[in-house]
Amino acid sequence: MAGKRPVRAAVLISGSGSNLQSLIDAALSGANYNIDLVVSNNASAFGLQRAEAAGIATAVLDHRRYDSRETYDDALEACLRSHAIELVFLAGFMRILGQSLVRNYAGRMLNIHPSLLPKFPGLNTHQRVLDAGDPWHGCTVHFVTAELDAGAAIIQARVPVRDDTDADELAKKVLSYEHRIYPQAAEWLASGRLRLVDDCAELDGVPLQGPQQFSEIRSSVA
Ligand code: GRF
Repeated sequence: MAGKRPVRAAVLISGSGSNLQSLIDAALSGANYNIDLVVSNNASAFGLQRAEAAGIATAVLDHRRYDSRETYDDALEACLRSHAIELVFLAGFMRILGQSLVRNYAGRMLNIHPSLLPKFPGLNTHQRVLDAGDPWHGCTVHFVTAELDAGAAIIQARVPVRDDTDADELAKKVLSYEHRIYPQAAEWLASGRLRLVDDCAELDGVPLQGPQQFSEIRSSVA
């Protein structure tokens, strides 16, 4: 898609929005996507301030004002459509989306999760990794499907777990890698290199047998 207009993307957040910032920064440095909208279910999310500072349109859709998941998702989808959004990036968005919305954005919606999926879907991943005594932790970008944290994995970064690490330190370390792999996956999708075909991720027309590993990508680029 090089030379064409950037693809219109929205980022959905609930909190700090540091992943949002990494996507904004990459977009400003010439990515094939532009962040045109930031949606939060939480009016006090710091990420909204990041969006405003970058001149990006924002919307707050507070889930407590909707009487069902369906009505919430309908409002969210209407908001995305009103901004002509083509790609959706979930970045710490603390809501499970329903089947209809997920289906309508199939192959066009990514999420970042702080674990080496399929290990540790769900919450509190850092403490759970420590409790399990795993030697490796990390983060994964994956396509979004109706099942939580279960869509085809695209890229992972692995982080060794040191014996003296606590959950907060581990979270910080993993987050620093999230900021590197999310813009990479977003760029692959926006440029048309990455596609979802029959629930399988394809990069440059080749089905991925497993997620790309961040370190391999670095060495293959070097
Ligand atoms: C990240 O760890 C992300 O993987 C998880 O929630 C956190 C959001 O952090 N889903 P931020 O709001 O992007 O700083």
